Amino acid sequence: MDITGKVALITGAGVRIGRALALAVAQRGANVLVHYNTSAQEAHEVVALIEKMGNEQHPRAVAIGGDLRDPATPERLIARGMEAFGHVDILINSAAIFRRGSVLDTTEADWDDHLIINLKAPFFLCQAFARRLQPDQRAHIINIADWRAVRPGVAYMAYTAAKAGLVALTKSMALALAPNVQVNAIAPGAILPPSEGHTEQGAREYFAQLPKRIPVRHTGSPEEVAKAVLYLLDSDFVTGELLFVTGGEHL
Ligand SMILES: NC(=O)c1ccc[n+]([C@@H]2O[C@H](COP(=O)([O-])OP(=O)(O)OC[C@H]3O[C@@H](n4cnc5c(N)ncnc54)[C@H](OP(=O)(O)O)[C@@H]3O)[C@@H](O)[C@H]2O)c1
Repeated sequence: MDITGKVALITGAGVRIGRALALAVAQRGANVLVHYNTSAQEAHEVVALIEKMGNEQHPRAVAIGGDLRDPATPERLIARGMEAFGHVDILINSAAIFRRGSVLDTTEADWDDHLIINLKAPFFLCQAFARRLQPDQRAHIINIADWRAVRPGVAYMAYTAAKAGLVALTKSMALALAPNVQVNAIAPGAILPPSEGHTEQGAREYFAQLPKRIPVRHTGSPEEVAKAVLYLLDSDFVTGELLFVTGGEHL
């Protein structure tokens, strides 16, 4: 799909990977709904960067706040996109939480937060998005999953279950929304040090020792995830796919 002039809603787009995705699709001429929860200032900075790229027609950007734990947020975000641009053609579910939790110490609150933010909210965003599509409108959904979704692990029980659900949802939705909507997922590997659950130094140290277990011997970058997103948006023939961006770590 040529994304020039299309409208993309990207959740969690104020910071880190989501920010890189917003800038990458805007660079290709798409208008962007920059969703944030707590990073309002960062989201407005992304909007300003995108507006600076623009000529008279595109791209344009709007920042939209919303806590994805609130069940009203998905519908509100899509409605705001319709109000601002008249159509929403691309949905990228990137917002998520990532907290440690073993089988013995995962609390009910941790479980609920992961399942709600990382799985339930993306589903209802997809539903609100799909309900507003015109019968002949081509569209894309891209869910940002994780390679942990398809490999056993002991340290991130709730996170892994939610991301595995997101991959299952991606495939079911690719069937349900065909032929006009392509639905894919990306499974990033080590892209950035964890943003919570570690001290800043702890996160850096943890991240610094990862390359030795990654076949290409280095960690990735948000721009690598953005390249995968642009590939999927460009394609008219890939749907229901899980694209690994891991340097081979998932192997
Ligand atoms: N970092 C990696 O190496 C890596 C590896 C594998 C997969 N991933 C996946 O890639 C995606 C982006 O990762 P990241 O590391 O860039 O994320 P991150 O730094 O952990 O940021 C999380 C994003 O989710 C948003 N968010 C968190 N809780 C929210 C809530 N209750 N309501 C609405 N938004 C909420 C945050 O918004 P605010 O900042 O506005 O609050 C933020 O934009 C995630 O889906 C993650 O699971 C990342």
